[in-house]
Amino acid sequence: MSSAMNWLVILLAIVNIVGAVWLLIVTAKKAPEDADATATTGHAWDGDLVEYNKPLPRWWLWLFIGTVIFSIIYLVLYPGFGRYAGVLGWNQNTDHAAAVQAAEEKARGIMAQFDGQPLPTLARDLKAQSIGRNVFANNCATCHGSDARGNPGFPNLADNDWIWGGQPEQILSSIIDGRTAVMPPLGAALGDKGVTEVVAYVRSLSGLSHDRRAAEAGSARFATLCVACHGADGKGNQALGAPNLTDDIWLYSAEAASIAEAINYGRNGQMPAHGPIIGEQRARLVAAYVLHLSQGAESVGGQQ
Ligand code: HEC
Ligand code: HEC
Repeated sequence: MSSAMNWLVILLAIVNIVGAVWLLIVTAKKAPEDADATATTGHAWDGDLVEYNKPLPRWWLWLFIGTVIFSIIYLVLYPGFGRYAGVLGWNQNTDHAAAVQAAEEKARGIMAQFDGQPLPTLARDLKAQSIGRNVFANNCATCHGSDARGNPGFPNLADNDWIWGGQPEQILSSIIDGRTAVMPPLGAALGDKGVTEVVAYVRSLSGLSHDRRAAEAGSARFATLCVACHGADGKGNQALGAPNLTDDIWLYSAEAASIAEAINYGRNGQMPAHGPIIGEQRARLVAAYVLHLSQGAESVGGQQ
């Protein structure tokens, strides 16, 4: 709080209390003994509606006095009077931090029962799944979707197709350390015609409609420019996060325009490192949850 604001708040508090006291004194004046009990304020509404001129009832007056005393005691004990911290030293921020810490300690205690258990075991544990599902909803659903089935640019985690690897430790590593994909722009190296040809070849790898002549020409270009990362057979390379281009599962889209965009301008998908955000215990539980989702996909016949 700046110094000017400090004094403004103090001034406002004082003006308010003094004003309230002044109002009390003015309105509390007892009517003189000889006052006419039926005297009115002199105002008239709608022709004949008038009001008596009577002081506030005593009990009501005491209520007001009580609130003034309360406000003064409050300002002595709690922060409210400019920068003055209050005798009790209570503070919203430390209060909140303490509550968060208490909740975190409780959660750590609950999660501790899963420490050291292998991820595949946790993936079958209903209690671990339910915590993992909450962690997912709070931290991952914005990008991967609340059903974990992904969005263009954000991979489906509920199937059994992995860009960076589906071993439990690989999934955990994707979550804790994050992943940065680097597909370089190759439009300049290929030229427009070259791009069209490679697009046709890439679509042919997944059995999608394509121009056969263009695809044949594209095959040679693919062999020079793309195999280093996507492999001679186009099946990708998990160490580089280069997707399999032969399975008709797309991180972005199967549309020729989207494939051409990847080739022309490159792609740089980023999975942010979540270790520093959610900590290891939650990371392991959410990894187990993701494992559970993908295993479910397998057991119903390799969904997608
Ligand atoms: C340096 C390694 C590298 C080279 C070379 C490379 N790619 Fe890629 N490619 C990647 C990576 C990594 C991704 C994933 C990008 C992401 O996740 O954002 C990718 C993504 C793609 C995608 C998107 C796939 C999807 O599922 O949506 C296509 C299509 C593609 N590459 C085609 C090609 C073609 C065609 C070439 C050659 C002209 C090529 N790439 C060369 C690394 C490479
Ligand atoms: C800001 C968006 C974002 C958030 C939040 C996010 N992710 Fe990701 N995640 C991505 C992107 C983008 C990729 C793909 C990177 C690439 O292009 O290869 C990815 C990749 C992954 C992968 C690797 C998938 C594969 O096929 O190998 C896993 C596993 C994963 N995320 C799990 C999670 C979990 C669990 C959380 C929550 C704790 C999470 N992600 C939160 C964006 C996000």
